[in-house]
Amino acid sequence: MCGIVGVLGKHQAAPILVDGLRRLEYRGYDSAGIATVNNGQLDRRRALGKLVNLNDHLVLHPLAGTSGIGHTRWATHGAATTANAHPHASGRIAVVHNGIIENFRELRVFLASHKIEPQTETDTETVAMLADWHLSQGLSPIEAAKETIARLEGAYALAFLFDGEDDLMIVARKGSPLAVGWGDGEMFVGSDALALASMTNEITYLEEGDLAIITRAGADFFDAGGCAVTRQRRTVAVDATSVDKAGHRHFMSKEIAEQPVVLANTIKFYLDGQKRRELISENLDLAAVDRVVMVACGTASLACFVAKYWFEQIAGLPVEVDIASEFRYREPPISGRTLTIFVSQSGETADTLAALRYCAGKASQVVAVVNVIESSIARESDVVLPIHAGPEIGVASTKAFTCQLAVLAVLALEAAKQRGACSDKVLQKLTSDLWRVPSLVADALGTDAAIQVVSAQLARHDDAIFLGRGAHYPLALEGALKLKEISYIHAEGYAAGELKHGPIALIDEQMPVVVLAPHDAMFEKTVSNMQEVMARGGKIIMISDAEGVSKAGDSTWHRIEMPQFESHWSPIVYSIPMQLLAYHTACEKGTDVDQPRNLAKSVTVE
Ligand code: G6P
Repeated sequence: MCGIVGVLGKHQAAPILVDGLRRLEYRGYDSAGIATVNNGQLDRRRALGKLVNLNDHLVLHPLAGTSGIGHTRWATHGAATTANAHPHASGRIAVVHNGIIENFRELRVFLASHKIEPQTETDTETVAMLADWHLSQGLSPIEAAKETIARLEGAYALAFLFDGEDDLMIVARKGSPLAVGWGDGEMFVGSDALALASMTNEITYLEEGDLAIITRAGADFFDAGGCAVTRQRRTVAVDATSVDKAGHRHFMSKEIAEQPVVLANTIKFYLDGQKRRELISENLDLAAVDRVVMVACGTASLACFVAKYWFEQIAGLPVEVDIASEFRYREPPISGRTLTIFVSQSGETADTLAALRYCAGKASQVVAVVNVIESSIARESDVVLPIHAGPEIGVASTKAFTCQLAVLAVLALEAAKQRGACSDKVLQKLTSDLWRVPSLVADALGTDAAIQVVSAQLARHDDAIFLGRGAHYPLALEGALKLKEISYIHAEGYAAGELKHGPIALIDEQMPVVVLAPHDAMFEKTVSNMQEVMARGGKIIMISDAEGVSKAGDSTWHRIEMPQFESHWSPIVYSIPMQLLAYHTACEKGTDVDQPRNLAKSVTVE
């Protein structure tokens, strides 16, 4: 992960770098740092923890200079300490890095043979040491950076700054994204266009293997073979205004509350005709494919898993769902009749991007379902379907998840239509059900007070189990994931029917079990599994509608009453109590809801 930013500017660099880092904190917040060239000399400031600590440090120890680089870290090699914070420096070089240098141990052996020893536990410091060694051999800064990069294995977005060079920055990318921003007599660098939003919207994205030599006058680009290349300069639509909490205590609660509105926008965007035609109907031949492969990570992969039920049940189209980190190395066969769909909020998740690249050229088409349309995944796909959730700041995904589901629902409907898998009447019913989803989500938000009561008690437990059947099974997985992510309570999700094959051994009087049991075709079966838990003393939190609660809610520990909605799209509505339960439990425990420990919102390393 990690976010990097750089500037060769006209004004003091430190505030510009900190502003860029603020927009990149979603990539990690273990430590942050900046380096500048001040009166020809490299200097740096670093601080442990969130960016606010660096900011405070800079108040007491300001850093002057108009050229600089900055970094916000998610620790991979070496603990989160100030010494391990970037920028790393060695002699006349400072460097910031996003990625993992896989051969750093071999490089250290080489450096040790020249009596150059590391001062930190990081892989990145090796890059600075090696570049400085090349300088000591008489190479110019540009040659030293090039020689260093040529010896690196692994993934990187790198920015180098040099002592004595106020008008030079060298950047390179392999595996991790990097954007160069164009100003008026100023140049910028950032992990994404958002980082540069307040500086410029004129962006050139580096391509895989690229290196760029940047001065205030512009940038020269070189491809992996070292040949000079032209890279497209484009104007991107990113909003520079800072996103606020709109009166909410946390971004997560704001984002949960926004769902009726953003879902209504997304559903309208795709169901209103023109966009569906342009983006989906005219772009995708869903009758010609014989299977769909969906690949994603984390919460996005659970959206795919829900959608698998829809594609198979509604469109009769087989779907395979895989997590990207496994898919990319498994070498799965992909034929020209396979449609591949990559789902990602950020559009930058390293494993999902690698899986996409594996499929490009093999699959009939590569479709991206993304929130950030200026992302690597979007740029490398044949068809981009934006989810229109708006900026999602809370690390735990909420509105992006339900908007991903909404877009996948539209795709499933389109597949059913193109394949003639449903009658017009059924299609019409499914479509009108989908239009109803935003208002049902608004009703589901009405469970907030009841869920706060449950959460106050759930927070006193160390473990929890989530059960569901059918398309609510992946939602049970999502409920467990959300709870563990932000409340640090150990939670597992299971298919309700799988309970007796092991997990039931965990049930005792202390075990809370959340049961997703809408009154649908699976209701009786789910309730039977719920009874098996109750018979062993487990504490049931039943989430169902009025009918379900009246039939089977007796003797449960808690009941959450949801709106009545017997539809394929019910998992979108049932996402709400999963989110609220995690949110209120985390608040009860006093955890850092928006930036939970050890996590980052965008995972740009594998
Ligand atoms: C991280 C985030 C999750 C997210 C996952 C995939 O783990 O904390 O919220 O679901 O990455 O991210 P993506 O941006 O690809 O959806």
